[in-house]
Amino acid sequence: MARQFFVGGNFKMNGSKDSIQSIVQNLNSASLPSNVQVVIAPPAPYLFWAAEHNKQPTVEVAAQNCYDKASGAYTGEVSAVALKDLGIPWVILGHSERRIIFKESDELIASKTKFALDSGLKVILCIGETLEEKKAGKTVEVCKRQLQAVLDVVSDWSNIVIAYEPVWAIGTGLAATADDAQEIHKDIRNFLSTAIGSQAESVRILYGGSVSGKNAKDFRGKDDVDGFLVGGASLKPEFVDIIKSRE
Ligand code: 13P
Repeated sequence: MARQFFVGGNFKMNGSKDSIQSIVQNLNSASLPSNVQVVIAPPAPYLFWAAEHNKQPTVEVAAQNCYDKASGAYTGEVSAVALKDLGIPWVILGHSERRIIFKESDELIASKTKFALDSGLKVILCIGETLEEKKAGKTVEVCKRQLQAVLDVVSDWSNIVIAYEPVWAIGTGLAATADDAQEIHKDIRNFLSTAIGSQAESVRILYGGSVSGKNAKDFRGKDDVDGFLVGGASLKPEFVDIIKSRE
């Protein structure tokens, strides 16, 4: 089953009106491959502006978070229903920065994932182990636990893209090797297969963590690496090189 290559850009809480305008213009003027799906996730205040100014048919926009309620007394939270209402198709959930800094549990992330899907959004679901967990040999165990929470509440995975982002690789310049990423992605897919059967073959599994214009090509030929979720480099012109890394 051919899975369309996917490159996500998570801007995190970075950027200004000017810098985000130049990122969107840079994408608009690039000749992007028509067979690569691109999703950029600007900070919430710039989300709709970025969506309106994007001219590339292969580029869509994602929120970086949303809550598991449609509306109500939840000051500061983002409604999945409101995102859908305003034409934002994607949301990133379960990023390690949300799990660690904001103490989001596996169960909350699973509940948000279900609610976002039920609201008509597509979800980039992030999983991955910390350095301590890696050193303890728990990489796959942690990924399975994080996935199991979502498997417990979601049966249709057609609108989920998984991003395997080892915490020790995020923002450190120390990307996982392509071979290591492939091995873990394969384990993740095998685990999914036992739970959701042949659907697992069409679920895209992205690698995230210090992906750059330089190292993106190293992952070519790795069957279970279906794209990238890029942080720092998505704010720079090299993001286009990453999008083109399969050419
Ligand atoms: P970096 O690419 O900056 O390591 O960040 C990865 C990430 O967290 C994407 O969600």
